[in-house]
Amino acid sequence: MARISAGIATSHVPAIGAAIDNGRTRDEYWAPVFEGYEFVKEWVKDNTPDVVILVYNDHASALMLDIVPTFALGFAEEFLPADEGWGRRPVPTVHNHLELAAHIAEQLVIDEFDITLINEMDVDHGLTVPLSLVFGQPEEWPCKVIPLAVNVTQFPTPSGERCWKLGEALRNAVKTFPEDLNVQVWGTGGMSHQLQGTRAGLINAEFDQRFIDLLAHEPEELKYITRIEYLRETGTEGIELIMWLIMRAALGYGVEEKHRFYRVPASNTAVGHVVYEARS
Ligand code: DHB
Ligand code: FE
Repeated sequence: MARISAGIATSHVPAIGAAIDNGRTRDEYWAPVFEGYEFVKEWVKDNTPDVVILVYNDHASALMLDIVPTFALGFAEEFLPADEGWGRRPVPTVHNHLELAAHIAEQLVIDEFDITLINEMDVDHGLTVPLSLVFGQPEEWPCKVIPLAVNVTQFPTPSGERCWKLGEALRNAVKTFPEDLNVQVWGTGGMSHQLQGTRAGLINAEFDQRFIDLLAHEPEELKYITRIEYLRETGTEGIELIMWLIMRAALGYGVEEKHRFYRVPASNTAVGHVVYEARS
């Protein structure tokens, strides 16, 4: 049977991808950010999954205003890195696990999540930067990746509570896949940040730290943070944190926190990162 063995959450700042691609990770500005990822790069060598379900958001790279799915599963055989204005990132093509993706799609619909299937798309920094942070710069990504895109850019965005339930449904879907697969769920985005408007540059370290404090063992109250609270407390883009809730719910009740990291500054975002192993 397939099982979800671990979860990772990380911010997905595009400038982090550019720092990696341009050999700038040891610069004075970036070194303290990348230090926070030394743990996961070692850890993943002993914990390489067969498949990552990578919960992320597209930033108007593949999903523009013409189609805005609330939750969408990547259903192509492979996904190229998107050109976000500076050419495609020099990172490997992402390969899907289509059998598991098909099973998840079916189970989610049975579980009342009418998920959108995307048969062709490029994947932007929301997906490729986390892969680079965890796996470095390999010739090929060492596992299959199922992209799960969440709308956090166009109103109405889903609630944290709804995301939690999607995480639970994902967990049930993976558990009923007959093949023996080691699956990880990653949640990307956040933490507090606002990229435009009069509050551009907003960071709320107190909110972020509390979010990390509660996520492993007392996530209950995090489920009920409203979209307006995310906006008010964490800036316009802080709502990306709802994707961390999908990851956490997919792991089930018991987790062991193996690592946590928080760093400001990194571009305009408070960078947060956790590694959890499932214990139930
Ligand atoms: C930044 C952060 C993001 O999450 C994003 O999607 C784009 C930019 C930033 O801090 O620059
Ligand atoms: Fe983002």
